[in-house]
Amino acid sequence: MNRVRVLLAAGGVVLAIALFVLLARPGSSGSRQGGGGLVIGGPFSLVDGTGKNVTDRDFRGKFLLVYFGYTHCPDVCPTTLGAMAEALGKMPAPARARVVPVFITVDPARDTASVVGAYAHAFGPEFVGLTGSAAAIADVEREYRVYAQKHVLEGGDYAMDHSSVIYVMAPDGSFDAVLDDQMAPATMAQQLTKLGV
Ligand code: NI
Repeated sequence: MNRVRVLLAAGGVVLAIALFVLLARPGSSGSRQGGGGLVIGGPFSLVDGTGKNVTDRDFRGKFLLVYFGYTHCPDVCPTTLGAMAEALGKMPAPARARVVPVFITVDPARDTASVVGAYAHAFGPEFVGLTGSAAAIADVEREYRVYAQKHVLEGGDYAMDHSSVIYVMAPDGSFDAVLDDQMAPATMAQQLTKLGV
């Protein structure tokens, strides 16, 4: 499953930019080396909404839809997570049961375990929110080629500028595909079906 399958839909420019970011930040030591040359994903050790330690191995046997963002995000994160929830809602129950949507914060300073857990859960009972130490989040961002940058706002508050794509990880933990965050939920559901979900 190492073949890179890039699924293009509307919003191809956004995907192109996302892929540029992905390709422009090559390999970390912890990443899995895929046969296709594009290395995405790898081992992680994070904390879920209940404060429990979880690793990538805990999700073996499931397709993961991995999305990176932060709970203070005003627009892109809630829109994308909402689209993921809607897409899963369009899939038959047995397929849906094979998928775990995972939200990983890029803002661990504010997104504690309970905050990220409650936020993810608001999009559906199957959504898992993950956070961790600054170092653990930096590691997983590097593995997934995530761009995330703090952006201080007037008044001292801050936002996180971040790349926004949905990673589909296969049940064996390998990278399967990237879905454009602008994809309509029905299209997303079709693409997941094509990927064998
Ligand atoms: Ni966001």
